[in-house]
Amino acid sequence: MRWWDVPAARAVEQALFPDPWAESTFWSELAGVPDTRFYVVAQAGGQLVGYAGLFATRHQADVQTLAVAPEHQGRGLGGALLRSLLEEAARRGVGEVLLEVRAENEAAQRLYARHGFERISIRRGYYPGGADAVVMRRRG
Ligand SMILES: CC(C)(COP(=O)(O)OP(=O)(O)OC[C@H]1O[C@@H](n2cnc3c(N)ncnc32)[C@H](O)[C@@H]1OP(=O)(O)O)[C@@H](O)C(=O)NCCC(=O)NCCS
Repeated sequence: MRWWDVPAARAVEQALFPDPWAESTFWSELAGVPDTRFYVVAQAGGQLVGYAGLFATRHQADVQTLAVAPEHQGRGLGGALLRSLLEEAARRGVGEVLLEVRAENEAAQRLYARHGFERISIRRGYYPGGADAVVMRRRG
């Protein structure tokens, strides 16, 4: 993801999430590339239709975000984006990848489980508005 992708990513973000990231959040995430962040996009017909981001320290990584525009879901893009984050974590030698996902978001949890993530805990009221988060972990 480059700076010129931010407006299109914001549009996907707003279509998908009740608490979408502000443009400034994308800017500050991209400012961490490549030191502590890794961001990729998926395109169809030259348009951004998905993106994913990783935060990585030497010991641990987090899936910061993963999103595919509604009309492009269910075709393998989410899995491809996630695999590209996991490959980057492996390249950086990070053994453990964590993430939080809304407890009611079963589609995303299935995708993560298929890629080796296990549920390790619940964070009650984690999201703005009070929804719980499931914490999932994948050991490399
Ligand atoms: C979660 C999300 C990123 C998944 O993206 P996606 O592109 O739909 O993911 P995939 O296509 O790789 O996999 C999703 C499903 O489509 C199926 N699928 C994959 N490729 C397929 C294909 N070529 N044809 C038909 N189905 C396919 C997968 O088997 C999977 O099935 P499942 O529902 O039984 O798990 C997407 O649904 C999304 O953006 N959701 C809203 C935002 C969100 O929840 N993000 C995660 C926050 S933590």
